[in-house]
This record gives sequence, structure tokens and C-alpha cells, in this order.
Amino acid sequence: MKKTVSIFLAFGSMAVLALFLPSACTKAKAPVPLPEVTCSSTISFSAQIAPMIDANCASCHGAGAGTSPTLSNHAEISANAEAMIQAMRGTPELMPQGGPALPDSLIQQFQCWMEQGKLQN
Ligand code: HEC
Repeated sequence: MKKTVSIFLAFGSMAVLALFLPSACTKAKAPVPLPEVTCSSTISFSAQIAPMIDANCASCHGAGAGTSPTLSNHAEISANAEAMIQAMRGTPELMPQGGPALPDSLIQQFQCWMEQGKLQN
């Protein structure tokens, strides 16, 4: 009986290892987990998000600037929001390209806008 239990344990722990090993070797491009943010107010797309993107991203991603994705209006920014916040957090490449990273408060504001449903307000 004792032997059965230890064999069971040995195989059991191998099974557990096998479950966890694949997730241990994460791919370089895996999205980074976003921190929890507290959103105390409704973020305004026109007053906060659009000006922030204009100031920090439009030189390369504005209409006609030539770098994909184009981030010049609500539809384009909403469609690319997940990739944008990943890039602001450094994955797969830090944006704005060449750095420095945006202040955390601005990245959190963008995350709040996403969590509030990417409003066009
Ligand atoms: C100085 C130019 C420049 C600025 C400023 C810039 N980017 Fe980029 N961005 C690029 C280039 C160039 C690429 C294409 C990837 C590459 O060749 O490195 C890119 C790629 C991206 C991508 C696609 C990444 C992927 O998933 O492959 C996203 C999303 C992005 N930028 C978001 C942003 C955001 C958001 C900002 C503003 C906070 C920003 N970028 C500012 C030059 C810039």
C-alpha cells in the first residue's frame, strides 16, 4: 500500500511538472500581464486619449506618416488598443520607439479607457 502511494506520488508530481513546464518557457512575444488599475473617472477619448496619441505616436503612426499601424482616429486606435498598450509596456518593442517610455499615469489612463469600453466620447 505504501509503495502504491509513493509510486502514485512520483507519477503525480511528474504530471504536475509536465503541466507547468510548457508555460515556464514563455515566448518572447507573449503579451505582458497588465497591472490592475483603479479608474476613478471616465476617460475622455477626445480630451485625453487622442491628444496623448497625437503628442507621442503621431509623428510615426499618424495619417500619412507611413508606419503601420496608423493611429489617427478612434476606429484605428480602438482596433489597435491591445497592441498599443503592450507596446507602451515594452512588448514586443517599446513605444514610443527609441523611448523613453510614457509616464505610468498616461499608460494607466489608456488602460482605463480600454476597460471602460474604448468609448468615443
Ligand atoms: C519614432 C517613431 C515611432 C514613434 C514615436 C512610435 N512608434 Fe510605434 N512603431 C514604429 C515603427 C518603426 C514600428 C514598426 C516596427 C519596427 O519596425 O520596429 C512601430 C510599431 C508599432 C506597433 C506594432 C508593434 C507590433 O505589435 O509589432 C504598435 C502597436 C505601435 N508601434 C504603437 C505605438 C504607440 C502606441 C506609440 C506612441 C505611444 C508609438 N508606437 C510611437 C515607430 C514609432
